[in-house]
Amino acid sequence: MSLLTLNEATIKFGGLVAVNSVSFSLETGDLFGLIGPNGAGKTTCFNIITGVYAPTSGKIHFDGKDITGTPSNKIAKLGICRTFQNIRLFSSMNAIENVVVGGFLRHESTLGSALGYLPSAIKETNKLRSQAMELLDLVNLADVAESRSRDLPYGKQRRLEIARALATQPKLLLLDEPAAGMNPQEKMELLEMVRKIRDELSITVLVIEHDMKFVMNLCERILVLDHGEEIAQGPPSEIRNDPKVIAAYLGEAV
Ligand SMILES: Nc1ncnc2c1ncn2[C@@H]1O[C@H](COP(=O)(O)OP(=O)(O)O)[C@@H](O)[C@H]1O
Ligand SMILES: [Mg+2]
Repeated sequence: MSLLTLNEATIKFGGLVAVNSVSFSLETGDLFGLIGPNGAGKTTCFNIITGVYAPTSGKIHFDGKDITGTPSNKIAKLGICRTFQNIRLFSSMNAIENVVVGGFLRHESTLGSALGYLPSAIKETNKLRSQAMELLDLVNLADVAESRSRDLPYGKQRRLEIARALATQPKLLLLDEPAAGMNPQEKMELLEMVRKIRDELSITVLVIEHDMKFVMNLCERILVLDHGEEIAQGPPSEIRNDPKVIAAYLGEAV
């Protein structure tokens, strides 16, 4: 049984078909890439998977359940967590507090109520802290656990977002352009980290990424979108040489 299946998922915004009859399946343990030029509909795919928007038509199944149109807080509890194209951390909290907030999702109905409990809980709940510390360790941020997140360099903020997402104990992790703005060294570290997340935590990963080298090195299968539609799907070796893919990227700086 597949972990995630999109079956002819479509979403329209007024006259614009942002995602047009897109179908794909992820098996548990997959490292799957979603690529395409700007405006192709990649982030919108994440938005319909995570319940930000309900698809106009088509079906989405996760872990044996029909999750089409399920609101995002419920989706998160079912085990799908994401990071955003633009960093969304609690900037005045330190690194470990940001990760602890992620962990609350497992226990509280909304993030709002979780935040109400946060200061006392952080003091009292050593267990949450030690779990958060393990995740910081996994993303190589243990040494900055007490630093305010807004004071961290950009590459570390991106990794912190991933640690916070992992604190929700997802089965499926969605990463939206995690390497954006990173230097080559940071990208290499990120690539190793995402592999470790899949290999050691057995988490299935769906990643949107603009950096071709990154996505080709990381992913075992790739889906290419253009104008909301699938133009190719397959292993990197096929995608790299696909004339439709090359044409779609003409004129794009990749
Ligand atoms: N909430 C929305 N309302 C209207 N149009 C949207 C909305 N979200 C995305 N779009 C449009 O859908 C298209 C795909 O956007 P997006 O999924 O963000 O592209 P990508 O992530 O591939 O760059 C774009 O034309 C974008 O302007
Ligand atoms: Mg996007």
